Amino acid sequence: GSWFSRGAKLKGKRVLVTAGGTMERLDPVRFLTNDSSGKMGFAIAEAAQLMGADVTLIAGRTTAAVPSGVNVIRVESAQEMLEAVTGRFADMDIVIKAAAVADYRAAQISGQKLKKTGEKLVLELERTVDILETLGQRKQHQFLVGFAAETDQVERYAMDKLRRKNCDLIVANDVAKDGAGFNGDTNIVQVYSSEGLVDSMPLLSKREVATRLLELIEARMNAAGG
Ligand code: CTP
Ligand code: CA
Repeated sequence: GSWFSRGAKLKGKRVLVTAGGTMERLDPVRFLTNDSSGKMGFAIAEAAQLMGADVTLIAGRTTAAVPSGVNVIRVESAQEMLEAVTGRFADMDIVIKAAAVADYRAAQISGQKLKKTGEKLVLELERTVDILETLGQRKQHQFLVGFAAETDQVERYAMDKLRRKNCDLIVANDVAKDGAGFNGDTNIVQVYSSEGLVDSMPLLSKREVATRLLELIEARMNAAGG
């Protein structure tokens, strides 16, 4: 279309993005978390907004600056993120789960600061709920996009996650590769659908990855008639 429609490809679309790492408390002064900076999810939220979408960003622990003008909801734990995301899912057109959600949390959260003893300490952890898998089970009209952080056998594990979590696309990154993954401003990703590899991006800024991913999502939604 025109220059205008090209710049507003996601106009009228409601997009939910999750970003950052969750924070799982052990006691009032300690928690478990991961290396996620939030940069990839923030770049997606910002790019979606520039493409005319109505964006909701649900963010855990992040070190990057929040994109301006985006509606941000802050959460701490995987459980809080689950509630924030599932509560808004029905209203969304596109959901992109870039957050690094903890797989485990403390089986017991201590209300008091844990005191050290002369003995070694063993922490008991229990599984968190898989948010993306929960969305995959409840999916109706939504276009669902997951991420997969891998250090080896990227295609195999990514395709596995795509199927298990009923995603429309999965964005895989080899976090062991230079220029990819958690903390930097660049990423190298492969995008898979149920038919296999659909895009293999070179080293790009997270902003460029975000735009190219959203254009791919838009094209696939259009091709599917919605
Ligand atoms: N994810 C989620 N809820 C969890 C764990 C993961 O929604 N409790 C989502 C992430 O946001 C990401 C996708 O699932 O979009 C894949 O996360 P990843 O950690 O790569 O995969 P897991 O399924 O957790 O498997 P593993 O960590 O064992 O590789
Ligand atoms: Ca995980």
